[in-house]
Amino acid sequence: MMNQTTEDCSSLPTSHRVSLLSNDGRLFHVILAQQFDRDLIDKLCRLAEMIRSIAESRQGSDFLRNQLCHKRAMLYFVQPSTRTFLSFAAACQIMGMPYNEVRDPSTSSEVKGESEADTVRVLSQYFDTIVMRHPAEGFAETMAHLLNGMRRTIPLVNGGSGKDQHPTQALLDIYTLHRSMGRSLISPGKPNFAGNPFEGKTIAFVGDLKRGRTVRSLVYLLTRYPGVRMLFIAPDELQIGADIIEYIQRMDVLHEFRDTLQSSVSECDAIYMTRLQDEHDLQGESKTIDYSRFHLTQDMAGQFKPELAILHPLPRRQELDVALDTDPRAKYWEQVQNGMWMRAGLMSYIFNVDATIIDHYYRDYAV
Ligand code: CP
Repeated sequence: MMNQTTEDCSSLPTSHRVSLLSNDGRLFHVILAQQFDRDLIDKLCRLAEMIRSIAESRQGSDFLRNQLCHKRAMLYFVQPSTRTFLSFAAACQIMGMPYNEVRDPSTSSEVKGESEADTVRVLSQYFDTIVMRHPAEGFAETMAHLLNGMRRTIPLVNGGSGKDQHPTQALLDIYTLHRSMGRSLISPGKPNFAGNPFEGKTIAFVGDLKRGRTVRSLVYLLTRYPGVRMLFIAPDELQIGADIIEYIQRMDVLHEFRDTLQSSVSECDAIYMTRLQDEHDLQGESKTIDYSRFHLTQDMAGQFKPELAILHPLPRRQELDVALDTDPRAKYWEQVQNGMWMRAGLMSYIFNVDATIIDHYYRDYAV
């Protein structure tokens, strides 16, 4: 494990940042989507799929609950969350890992002047991992470096960092896209996510792309799949950040920018909707934006491809018509559940019980 001061390290080369988050070349802290190569993404999708199957029986659930019952997790969520918090909590329960939570720092000794860094140092003495959601970009990465310098070093998982990244959401999004668009590549009873279902496909990102951390992380993961085409459909003021544009250009990803949704839906194989992230407004500046041009509505369904996948990280407002919920192409409720299985898979990988789960699956569940 390399050490790094707790200074901002966003200016360091990505490869250096990634190595600081690894232990002997294996994923340790989970902070950036750039930490995941294709092999690891495929492996985590496979683990999620296997855990989902194993958990179907009483005997399988007992086996899973035995895997991490000797570990403890802290869910430190000081920014609002429903899905990420609850799916990590459910993932801990599936794997038998007791967890505790801090969701409101006003009930902690931070009100007595304790720094957030000291809070994290304290948590590291009681728990074996910290899952963190925090409003500040870079805070989770800085705290991971702080933990690297502690005698008792534990993995930190980023459950959403400001406007920057949400890597575990991107993992569940890839898992959902793969299950929707690449079902034929996954042999029943032999889950294998090594195929590339996105080659030659168009995936559209719609809405507030500038401040949508889920989109930023998912773009990084999708660049691991050669041949994918990306459409970025957003108001000019909320178009995806220059750092992401520079990255996809460097990776030679086919891409286009659009400023209306209606005329683009017929060419999409997947549409990833996002809400207006106006909690990041400094002075209500997004109030003047006509977001209705970025609403996906039931009356557009006639233009959808038959195999379209509609995703949304949720929560939604009016940008995603509730009338679409019953359309088989709506995959956002599956996304919600897939998050639980993916996070259980991630925990099993972090704590090195992945090989035991894979062996168990092939012994008792594979056909
Ligand atoms: N998708 C997502 O991050 O949802 P929550 O904010 O409810 O966790």
